[in-house]
Amino acid sequence: MNSSPRRPDIATSCARPPADVELSTTPLTPPIHLSVVYKIDGLDHVDALYEGRDSGFIYARDGHPNAAQLGEKIATIEGAEAGLVCASGMAAEAAVFLALLEQGGEVALSEGLYGRTVALVGRELPRFGIKHRLFDSTRPETLRKALTPATKVIFAETLSNPLVRLADIAGLADIGRAAGVPFAIDHTFAPLLCRPLELGADFVVHSATKLIGGHSDLTLGLVATSRERMARVATVASTFGLAGNPFESWLALRGSATLPVRSARACATALTLAGHLAGDKRVGAVHYPGLPSHPDHERASRVLRGGFGTILTIDLGGREQADAFIRNAREIPFAPSLGDVATTLSHPATTSHRGQSAEQWARQGITPGLVRLSVGLEHPDDLWHQIDQALTS
Ligand SMILES: Cc1ncc(COP(=O)(O)O)c(C=O)c1O
Repeated sequence: MNSSPRRPDIATSCARPPADVELSTTPLTPPIHLSVVYKIDGLDHVDALYEGRDSGFIYARDGHPNAAQLGEKIATIEGAEAGLVCASGMAAEAAVFLALLEQGGEVALSEGLYGRTVALVGRELPRFGIKHRLFDSTRPETLRKALTPATKVIFAETLSNPLVRLADIAGLADIGRAAGVPFAIDHTFAPLLCRPLELGADFVVHSATKLIGGHSDLTLGLVATSRERMARVATVASTFGLAGNPFESWLALRGSATLPVRSARACATALTLAGHLAGDKRVGAVHYPGLPSHPDHERASRVLRGGFGTILTIDLGGREQADAFIRNAREIPFAPSLGDVATTLSHPATTSHRGQSAEQWARQGITPGLVRLSVGLEHPDDLWHQIDQALTS
């Protein structure tokens, strides 16, 4: 009898995963766990995992270490019990809507939201028998009128796009709580500037693609809420396939490390630029909550901490002037996103609000002359030099 251990064929050796590396040290930065599936000891173990008696992961669409770490981070940032990573900001919104809504339900939706959110609620959800009613997030009394016995969720953005109107989150939350309707806030434009859950919201969603990722190299969304509410959202996210992937979760976690310094610097620069632009006769209007002329300045001064945001919007008169500015501001790319380390420009009428009706534009104050700046980390003098030149030429 041959007692020597069997030597596997080379095909077998190639196919098998390597042995775990035994370490007496732990890496300073978190590893990226790309594995889709995890090894389980046996049937008692699998029962314990599914029943939550043992910690561990089974299948990446349901959870993986990088998402757990990023989820924990957003929970800490927002002061929530639980955080969830989704494949995009839209996936995070979809997870919340799908968790809360059913046929015959209604959404109370703020005016002036990101265009795809309007499309999700206004065009896609009606196919499932879900309606919506609009309200003005800066005037909570308008929410009262939008609520009906069928309302299952209230949805608003902290800072609207592109006129950066600041929602009265506490006022809206009071009305939502009295009516027993959960209130979700899209906090993409204002991470760290306030904590919507402390102001009374029930859910916070983010497009981590923007400021939290911070480098325009990942697409992810985040949800923060109570443990109880999250159980349903997480189930829906897994079932509808809305989960975020390990590499981008890892990237976003890295981005979150510098979020406070990036946000503080960009907010300070945005305020400086808004100040220059506000006194400039070449510019029709400047929309920035840090300016005393902004309709929500008083609330912004009370509610926001550490700055008035990184987004400011200018009105240059018409499409032609906006186009000339965009073409002349060569060092500031026309790249319709936001939250990058570099300053970028967007033109709401042809990008984020494209395809909306004249009536929708009028209600939200959208005109072809609006140009939105997402302020980054460049030196403010260099940015002003470039903007000044683009306004002159
Ligand atoms: C305010 C806001 N919410 C949500 C989204 C959607 O995020 P994502 O592109 O990550 O799906 C965006 C995207 O621009 C946004 O600006």
